[in-house]
Amino acid sequence: MSAEFFCYLCRKFFQNFSIMNIQQIRNDFPILTQKIYGYPLVYLDNAATTQKPQCVLDYIMKFYTEYNSNIHRGVHFLSEKATEIYENARLKVKEFINAKSRTEIVFTKGSTEAINTLAYSFSLKYINPGDELIISEMEHHSDIVPWQLYAQSKGAIIKVLPFDNNGELLLNKLENLITEKTKIVCVTFASNTLGTVNDVEKIIKTAHSHQIPVLVDAAQAIQHVKIDVQKLDCDFLALSGHKIYAETGIGILYGKEKFLEELPPYQGGGDMIKNVSFLKTTYAELPLKFEAGTSNFVGAGSLHTALDYVDKIGLENIAAHEAELLKYATQRVEEIGGITIYGKAKNKVSVLSFNINGAHHYDTGMILDKLGIAVRTGTHCTEPIMQHFGITGTVRASFALYNTFEEVDRLIEGIKRAKKMLVQ
Ligand code: ALA
Repeated sequence: MSAEFFCYLCRKFFQNFSIMNIQQIRNDFPILTQKIYGYPLVYLDNAATTQKPQCVLDYIMKFYTEYNSNIHRGVHFLSEKATEIYENARLKVKEFINAKSRTEIVFTKGSTEAINTLAYSFSLKYINPGDELIISEMEHHSDIVPWQLYAQSKGAIIKVLPFDNNGELLLNKLENLITEKTKIVCVTFASNTLGTVNDVEKIIKTAHSHQIPVLVDAAQAIQHVKIDVQKLDCDFLALSGHKIYAETGIGILYGKEKFLEELPPYQGGGDMIKNVSFLKTTYAELPLKFEAGTSNFVGAGSLHTALDYVDKIGLENIAAHEAELLKYATQRVEEIGGITIYGKAKNKVSVLSFNINGAHHYDTGMILDKLGIAVRTGTHCTEPIMQHFGITGTVRASFALYNTFEEVDRLIEGIKRAKKMLVQ
């Protein structure tokens, strides 16, 4: 038997093995049964947002029909029940990322708000004119602009940790960027555009050897990689619920207690205070100091439900399936020819960015859409990555636990069709 034929049999075996489980999983996601323009939906825009399983949808309906009431403020039954759901969600997140304490888990509306919270508070407390920050070249705008808004406005200088043409950070340059003025290193765990999984452990070790704290943006990692914040030893971590099958408008800022204690609040309002007078206001204990106003308590419970769902399936099983999909999709895209793939790191999450040579990403995306295939086109909120490659955007297919090899085949047929229509 030739090696090629053996590989083919192995893939077929894996496909069949996957289909049994994946079909069951797909049944949990009602939206996937839709037809778009007469074609069964192929949803490959998971890096932008994931679809929601029935258990999350059921939870939202149950909350509003049985428990709806504001948290932390009432002595009545419903308020206590809603508060219990909210605080239990905090405990679930604490366990999921293995934080030391529930006080280190701050609910935000997403990773963007988490980073804005940190950038504001950190800059107010620790940044002085002439101080420096190191931010990787592959950051999402949400890990660049908040630092420009708050740190740069206090006179700080942003230094950039570059990546190579495979999309891997040049970690050997980190030491050279660090000076006695460096105040924080900000890096994404996984790139939403290139898929690169960064060696954050190494970055954290290097930064810590100079007593510099590290923020890890885990928005594109939490749904693919097991994260243990104590083992990782990151000082701050941001994540979004809607990327991991929960509803939108809920996210987390994790921070080591010693920092969160020192940092001033980001927003003022109800729930974040101990006492208020016109002369002086004192703040609530952690983590409420950072949770001004009515938090998204329904979203917090949806995150709890989504994390339970992920735990039931097993993050390692999800990651293994997604890795097979990415490998298969990458190989098949390469076979087409005339396509440039952006992001060829050794360690990737299930994100495949590409362009048909000579075609505009938007046109490719439009043609795929008309075939019922949802991909994202454009800069993906990472304009510095586009500047690195000298392009205006890419087509991005991103895979989740419910995607199938047949859907990859549909994507490939769609790309071939787009290529034929757009490039002659
Ligand atoms: N930041 C999200 C993405 O990568 C929206 O698509």
